[in-house]
Amino acid sequence: MKSAGLKVFAPATVSNVGCGFDALGFALEKPGDEVVVRKSGTRGLRIVSIQGDGGKLPRDPQLNTAGIAASLLLKHLDMADMGIEMEIQKKMPIGSGLGSSGASAVAGVFAVNELLGRPVEREQLLPFALAAEGVACGSQHADNVAPCLLGGFQLIRDHESSDIVRLPVPPGIYIAVLCPKIEVLTRDSRQILKSSVPLGDAARQAANLGAMVAGMFRSDLELISRSMQDYLVEAQRQHLIPHYPLLKESALSLGAIGCNISGSGPSVFAMCHHSMQAETVGEAFSKIYTNKKIKHSIILSPINQAGVQLY
Ligand code: HSE
Repeated sequence: MKSAGLKVFAPATVSNVGCGFDALGFALEKPGDEVVVRKSGTRGLRIVSIQGDGGKLPRDPQLNTAGIAASLLLKHLDMADMGIEMEIQKKMPIGSGLGSSGASAVAGVFAVNELLGRPVEREQLLPFALAAEGVACGSQHADNVAPCLLGGFQLIRDHESSDIVRLPVPPGIYIAVLCPKIEVLTRDSRQILKSSVPLGDAARQAANLGAMVAGMFRSDLELISRSMQDYLVEAQRQHLIPHYPLLKESALSLGAIGCNISGSGPSVFAMCHHSMQAETVGEAFSKIYTNKKIKHSIILSPINQAGVQLY
């Protein structure tokens, strides 16, 4: 009889967070991807099923982020021939700006590491997940995979050396996310970005990012609010999200700390002072899209401090 296997949950993530393009990201409690792995008598890693992807994701483990990350770990351990079956359950929308490819990569490599008795520490799994994310998105950025793997609110100082700093999260913060039922692939959403920015914008962005980090350490929500402004990508990407200015204005008028594009979009997140405010902002987002007859879903979640976990 087939063993039930070992199951892991890897959370969705919000990256960029306004002023931290490719540098900031945090994990949500839900939704997330689930991956089941079990040992098998057949040589090599095989993806035996994927559910919830509408048939969009490759079953070939060398093309799927969960398979790529796990295969890189197995190669690193000199265990590439080991027989492993993997099942993937996509429980978050693909191309939504919530780190879907990164969550699968983290889930895959974390699950295989657990199956092998944890030969590698959690932090050391990051390069494998990052390399897989690079294949999916066309560039290696850790602002989704780092919070997915490690949980919490992460600052990525340098992607190549995985120099990552965990930031404290002021108590009570709650997140509302609008996920339009529109697919925007990160690869495409990066390609539309200009490769250079005016010096003044770069200076303003650096000042905001520094102030945002100070605000997190001081639990100064007003400073965080003033800092959560993006001079690099928001203006170039907002046309991908129907009625973005209206959504943002509505969240801010309801008192949200900040509102911006989640990762490469099209999801939009609002950072709120507490769960009731997040609920109100979520309702306002939903009302705007319902009136405009745009299919969507709403996520309400605190920041997930644990990251990927065994079920
Ligand atoms: N920082 C990346 C981007 C995140 O904005 O392109 C993609 O998920």
